[in-house]
Amino acid sequence: MITEIKTNTLYFDGCNTVELAEEYGTPLYVMSETAIVERCREIRETFLSKYERTRAAYAAKAFLTLSMCKIIEREGLCMDVVSGGELYTAIKAGFPAEKIELNGNNKSVEELALAIDYGIGRIIVDGLDELKLIEEICREKGKKANILYRITPGVKSDSHDYIVTGKKDSKFGIPLDDEVIFPAVEQAVNSEHANFMGFHFHVGSQLHNNESHLKALETALKLIKDTKDRFNYVTPELNIGGGFGIRYTDADDKKPYSYFLDPMMERIEEFSRELNITRPEVVIEPGRSIVGEAGITLYTVGTIKDIKGIRKYVSVDGGMTDNIRPALYQAVYEGVIANKADEPKNELVTICGKCCESGDVLIRDAKTAEPERGDILAIFSTGAYNYTMASNYNKNPLPATVLVKDGKSEIIVKRQDYEHMTANEVIPEYLK
Ligand SMILES: Cc1ncc(COP(=O)(O)O)c(C=O)c1O
Repeated sequence: MITEIKTNTLYFDGCNTVELAEEYGTPLYVMSETAIVERCREIRETFLSKYERTRAAYAAKAFLTLSMCKIIEREGLCMDVVSGGELYTAIKAGFPAEKIELNGNNKSVEELALAIDYGIGRIIVDGLDELKLIEEICREKGKKANILYRITPGVKSDSHDYIVTGKKDSKFGIPLDDEVIFPAVEQAVNSEHANFMGFHFHVGSQLHNNESHLKALETALKLIKDTKDRFNYVTPELNIGGGFGIRYTDADDKKPYSYFLDPMMERIEEFSRELNITRPEVVIEPGRSIVGEAGITLYTVGTIKDIKGIRKYVSVDGGMTDNIRPALYQAVYEGVIANKADEPKNELVTICGKCCESGDVLIRDAKTAEPERGDILAIFSTGAYNYTMASNYNKNPLPATVLVKDGKSEIIVKRQDYEHMTANEVIPEYLK
């Protein structure tokens, strides 16, 4: 068990969370290496080893540090990046370039050139003029890039609108109108400077139902068939994205990877037999499902404001700066007072941050033990899209991150200090 209670105290991957808060300060991101490795193992056992010619590219946007790159490399996964900064981080950590795939709906010329210079494995083309840019860069550099087309499969997934990406009205992907997609495919098939590997879709995030994946798959398969029929070209690869949901609260009906992947693989194999083609290599891009439940955030409780008959606000020393998700799209979390983990949860409180926004609420209506100033509050399942979405709003420094494993802890991101926050700022002469 990654999470345990011993002597009224919360332990995470064998570490006493109250001691972690004392040693490293709060707010503090705590990532369990054991939990990350366990999810990678599940991917290997139920997908990579089960089906030949498959790859899993960890979606770095969920949580990316140099140490995370090392873990992902060690666990045998590839890496999906979406910016020059993510690409740079992976390369700086020594991650093999050929195992990196670049996504993104508006890659700059500089980012594309960087990717081509590094010789990364795949570029997922997300717009109609992007291939032209890639071709120009490759021509200049005398290189050839492996590309896929991200398509907009036109499916609506059952998740918050901000994390649904596959519907037709989306900034992501190439629309599937015949007069749009087929000239694009023709250009890719005939490209001198790109190897056209196939199609990519990603329907959305935090999904507990495989319906939209399966619907999008049908659309992609039809496109593979049309590409073969029209251009006599069999695409060797198919990327089916990520989006596999995790448990934030009891309301989340988390499924194993196999629930999504087995029916999709079965269908792809059946389709390939029918078409008499080699089954394309299948790639997945899981992010949240690898790191989400592997992280918790520790805070120190400060001001408590009890508005009689209305609400008790418990303020902590972080907030929307380290976890924007509740303010951004009403994400729901659970937490516990780590130093009172075994005490009855008879208090109904609202956990809020310290930022100057009324929307800076981390958990509305949480049931906790009696809170007091100085308590350590732990919020669960903060491993994905927290650290990577953090900001310096109100000039709050970014928290530190520690990696824990079997009772041992190591700092992997130092706490930002005030000097670092102002280091890039310049005062023009006339204001001095
Ligand atoms: C293209 C692409 N792949 C993979 C992911 C990862 O999704 P998740 O973290 O839900 O697995 C995302 C998330 O937005 C994405 O846009």
